[in-house]
Formats: sequence, C-alpha cells, structure tokens
Amino acid sequence: MLDPRRPRCIAIANQKGGVGKTTTAINLGAALAAEGQQVLVIDLDPQGNASTGLGIDVEQRNFTTYDMLIEGMPLREIVLPTNITNLSIAPATTDLSSADVQLVNNENRVFLLKDALDVATLAGFDIVLMDCPPSLNLLTVNAMVAADSVLVPLQSEFFALEGLSQLMLTIREVRQSANPALRIEGVVLTMFDMRNNLCRQVEDDARENLGELVYKTRIPRNVRLSEAPSYAMPVLQYDPTSRGSEAYRDLAKEVLKRQLQEA
Ligand SMILES: Nc1ncnc2c1ncn2[C@@H]1O[C@H](COP(=O)(O)OP(=O)(O)OP(=O)(O)O)[C@@H](O)[C@H]1O
Ligand SMILES: [Mg+2]
Repeated sequence: MLDPRRPRCIAIANQKGGVGKTTTAINLGAALAAEGQQVLVIDLDPQGNASTGLGIDVEQRNFTTYDMLIEGMPLREIVLPTNITNLSIAPATTDLSSADVQLVNNENRVFLLKDALDVATLAGFDIVLMDCPPSLNLLTVNAMVAADSVLVPLQSEFFALEGLSQLMLTIREVRQSANPALRIEGVVLTMFDMRNNLCRQVEDDARENLGELVYKTRIPRNVRLSEAPSYAMPVLQYDPTSRGSEAYRDLAKEVLKRQLQEA
C-alpha cells in the first residue's frame, strides 16, 4: 500500500542513448503538471539536459543532485521552481559524472537517492520523474532503488527490444537486492512513424512480448519536440497544438489512469 503522502516516484530509464528519456521527463512532466499534478523532475544525468530543457541555466544551478547525492544536501535545498506552473526540478550539472567513481567504496551507495528523498519535501508533490543517464550505472540504480516504478521509452527501431532485456535484468537485480516492490510503470514507443514498416514491426513485437505494459499512446517523431529544448521550454509551451504536445498530453492521461486503476 502506497503512503498517501508519498508521491508516485517514476524512474525514466533506458541504457540506450537518445531514445527519448529526457524528452519524456520534460514533456510528460509538463503534461502532468497541466493536469493539476504537482510534479518534481529529478535530473540524474550529468548532461543536465532535463534542467536545460526546463529553462534552468547552468548559472542558476548552484545546488544540484550532485550536492544531494555526494554531499548529503537535503532535497528541499536543491529544488527549483520552473516557468511551468506545478513543475519543479532538482537540477544536474556535469560534476555528477564523477559520482560513480567517488562512491565506489561507499557501502550505502545504491541507497543515496532513496535516503535523500525526505518525506516532508516529497509530501508537496504528487509525482516525481527521475531522468536517468544512458547507462545502467550507479545513478540509474539509485533511481531504481528510490522509485516505485520504471517507465521505459523505447525508440521504434531495430535492436530496441534487445536492449530491453538488459534493462529488465537490472530491474530484476534491483528487486532481488534493494527494492523488492519495484514495478514496471510502462513502456512508451517514441519517435514513432506510422509510415515506417520497421516502426510498426517494433510495435507489434513490443506489444506481443510486453502486452499491457506498452502504452496505447505512441510518441510520434515530431520536429517541434526536438526544437523545444533550444527554447528552454516543454513542447506544451513551445507549440501546444503540435502532434508532440498532443501525444504527451495523451500519455499523461494514460499514466494517471493507470495510477487510479492501481489505487
Ligand atoms: N518524438 C521525437 N521526435 C523528434 N525528435 C525527438 C523525439 N524525442 C526525442 N527527440 C530528439 O532526439 C534526441 C534524443 O532525445 P532525448 O535527449 O530525449 O533522449 P535521451 O534518451 O534522454 O538521450 P540520452 O540517452 O543522451 O540522455 C534529442 O535531440 C531530442 O530532441
Ligand atoms: Mg537524456
């Protein structure tokens, strides 16, 4: 039974690079916020793309997820508001890239994020989305240990499903060791192109193998989605009527519906 004061914590993970993790963290976050949810995005990627895409300049990132994980700074001190109503962010900078090495001898190293997510700060949020780096490294494992579930963006291309088995293995390992309750939130097909046979093939395979875990909503390949970060905005702000906006709004509704069904 979930603590009603605890938000739903979702790690957005896939060790494959460039599959739409950050785009999903930003735009699903914005779409959930538009539905009235209080949303916190935690940037766990040293690339800091989610922070940039949500309008937080590097100069504004005085305190970051590095300070939280390595220096033990409380979550409440690193959280910043964004220009989007109901959406906050715990930003990241490149110094996070040294976390793996710095923590190698720390026995508590997979629990650092879980321990940093204090109840009082979390109580102000309904949903926490953690944007993971393109690796199954210590940062991603920290996210999986702290999370209730993992949301997997799956780029509709050849080899997509092969990468998934490695990810599922890591989820299983985290379940066996540090977080037995970890679930798979869902798998979302990204950069989908209806006219492309390969995309449809990947979709068929994904639905056959993963069944209901695959969201009905597919995120289309949409240039507005790739342009929005350079204006430091979610697509919902940059171009609210674009197909990308529409898709992330649909995904947000689907995520919320599943949450209701499970409650
Ligand atoms: N549906 C889409 N349509 C068009 N472009 C997209 C879409 N989703 C993502 N992109 C673009 O593809 C690139 C990779 O996306 P994104 O940064 O979200 O992936 P990622 O999985 O977070 O990458 P990394 O593994 O490096 O963190 C970005 O330039 C992004 O703007
Ligand atoms: Mg990313």
